[in-house]
Amino acid sequence: MKRVLVVSYSQSGQLSDIVAALVRPLVAAGLRLHHEVLRPQPAFPFPWPFFAFLDVFPESVRLDPRPNQALALDDADGADEADFDLVILAWPVWYLSPAQPVSAFLQSAAAKRLLGGRPVVSVVACRNMWLSAFDTLKTLVAEAGGRLVDHVAFTDESPALATFITTPRWMFTGRRDRFFGLPPAGVNAQQTAGAARFGTALAQALARDEEKHDQPMLGGLCAVKVAPHLILSERAGRRAFQVWSGLIRRCGRAGQRRRIPALVLFLIYLVVLIVTVVPLNLALQRLAAPLLARRIAALTRHYEQPSGAGDARMSAHE
Ligand SMILES: Cc1cc2nc3c(=O)[nH]c(=O)nc-3n(C[C@H](O)[C@H](O)[C@H](O)COP(=O)(O)O)c2cc1C
Repeated sequence: MKRVLVVSYSQSGQLSDIVAALVRPLVAAGLRLHHEVLRPQPAFPFPWPFFAFLDVFPESVRLDPRPNQALALDDADGADEADFDLVILAWPVWYLSPAQPVSAFLQSAAAKRLLGGRPVVSVVACRNMWLSAFDTLKTLVAEAGGRLVDHVAFTDESPALATFITTPRWMFTGRRDRFFGLPPAGVNAQQTAGAARFGTALAQALARDEEKHDQPMLGGLCAVKVAPHLILSERAGRRAFQVWSGLIRRCGRAGQRRRIPALVLFLIYLVVLIVTVVPLNLALQRLAAPLLARRIAALTRHYEQPSGAGDARMSAHE
């Protein structure tokens, strides 16, 4: 009987719901599942106080996260650790980077033991920007010795302008319901239920020993949808985040009041960036489309790897 390790972190329950839908077919197929929920020490608040939300920015970007409590597997003295056939890693994005608890896990000794030499399936759920964070995640998984064989992404499919309001409202109040005619925040119920197709496909693949080869098992299932127009904005944002995170860290450590002025400056920059630079960047991209087309197509293909955006196997799951 094959064993699957699930490692996840979710504050609001959005990603836990996706994981629950995804693993149900694995359990139904008789696979043995061990689920590790990452527990940062101390826990991050949800809903977020305003400055706490800003204060996690520098360390998220610089991959210098708050540590997690020991895993339940650690408590069990490492028993059975060698037996996992597959690891499913479910993670949210924080500031274009893997959320701190996931980054802490991937940089831990436990990750080296648990991921070393094993196939890893990545499952991300976020607002709409996971590309840079995925580049970082791939590096961290490889450094822990894991083999990233599949990647599926869930994003908020409402218009970007609406999510610009509904996501912060959700983060700061915990409320994600319909609001002044705007759609509910986050990944919708239909997308969440649709995560089951990945569990079904993984159960079938495990029955055929496919996890032993370095080939994706979730092709043809619309695993990802890359938004080509966001690629260059995200890359520019990532570069700016590197600079800002360095500046803020020079003003003080996480939680210290003396870095609040720098965080406020960053906030102003962020708002100006979102309301001016991003639309300007999109307009320029449209003008320069013929010149950028090949580069954007190549980057789109890069981010669609390994599982792809194809839908060839979707009919079997509808
Ligand atoms: C501090 C913070 C920063 C975030 N930054 C991003 C981001 O850069 N890109 C994005 O698409 N979503 C971002 N999100 C949204 C999360 O990826 C995620 O969708 C949301 O926190 C809900 O996840 P949960 O399952 O942990 O509740 C951010 C959320 C938080 C709390």
